Amino acid sequence: MNFPDLSGRVAVVTGGARGLGYSLASALARQSVSVALLDLLPEVHESATRLAAETGVATTAATVDVTDPESVNAAFVAVADTLGIADILITAAGITVWGDAAEVDRAEWSRVIDVNLNGTFFSTQAFARPLIAEGRTGSALLISSMSGRVVNVPQNQASYNSSKAAVDQLAKSLAVEWAPAIRVNAIAPGYFLSDMTRQFTEANPELAAEWISRIPAGRMGEPGDLDGLASLLISSASSYVTGQSFVIDGGYTAI
Ligand SMILES: NC(=O)c1ccc[n+]([C@@H]2O[C@H](COP(=O)([O-])OP(=O)(O)OC[C@H]3O[C@@H](n4cnc5c(N)ncnc54)[C@H](O)[C@@H]3O)[C@@H](O)[C@H]2O)c1
Repeated sequence: MNFPDLSGRVAVVTGGARGLGYSLASALARQSVSVALLDLLPEVHESATRLAAETGVATTAATVDVTDPESVNAAFVAVADTLGIADILITAAGITVWGDAAEVDRAEWSRVIDVNLNGTFFSTQAFARPLIAEGRTGSALLISSMSGRVVNVPQNQASYNSSKAAVDQLAKSLAVEWAPAIRVNAIAPGYFLSDMTRQFTEANPELAAEWISRIPAGRMGEPGDLDGLASLLISSASSYVTGQSFVIDGGYTAI
């Protein structure tokens, strides 16, 4: 058995300019999947060029704010013209803002919900529409977080935690609505090394040590730690798996 065989498929990865999104895109490209990277950052174009050079697959990129459904839709149409209709989606675009719940202002709260929940939803909509119209199948993998199930400490991040719990429920809701053609699952990472976490640990090195002290694996996750389960869930080997969220956290939430 070729396990899992993804070759020849077309993927859109939101938040794909860097971090976990880029790493997952790279895992797909190494399995001969054509990849479109969408991101707010203009450097997404360089990321796509680098990915093509490293893997030899066709790639494309677009600067998109996932909170804007019209530009998300336009990007998916452009991807279809360039690479073909996407039948894999990974939603990695996300932000976190720390602050005490009693003090956080409306704009900050709303931005986190808008990117992490609404942006994820708009991306799944743009992904599903052409597949539904053409009667085709596809697989979406939403990046939620262990923070959708547990409350991280010592930092306060109620907006992020709430948004990620909602992403897990979104995966379930869409999975039921779009079954059996489009499978929708989520992966929920624990603490991973990326720009998102580095902005905090570089300012406060003791914080990384505190996080790691709570991780049975004894380290933060490396982006590549997501590749295996992500590929398996997207592949036809998981054709009966939908509406689920899988934690990848080195054992953090097992305690
Ligand atoms: N790093 C971790 O420890 C960790 C843990 C659990 C979940 N996650 C999730 O994984 C995903 C990737 O995070 P990361 O750690 O790689 O962080 P990152 O900051 O390196 O990557 C996030 C990417 O999303 C993009 N993005 C942000 N807002 C956007 C918008 N409105 N439209 C389009 N793109 C946008 C950013 O430009 C960036 O390239 C996020 O959803 C994050 O919540 C990360």
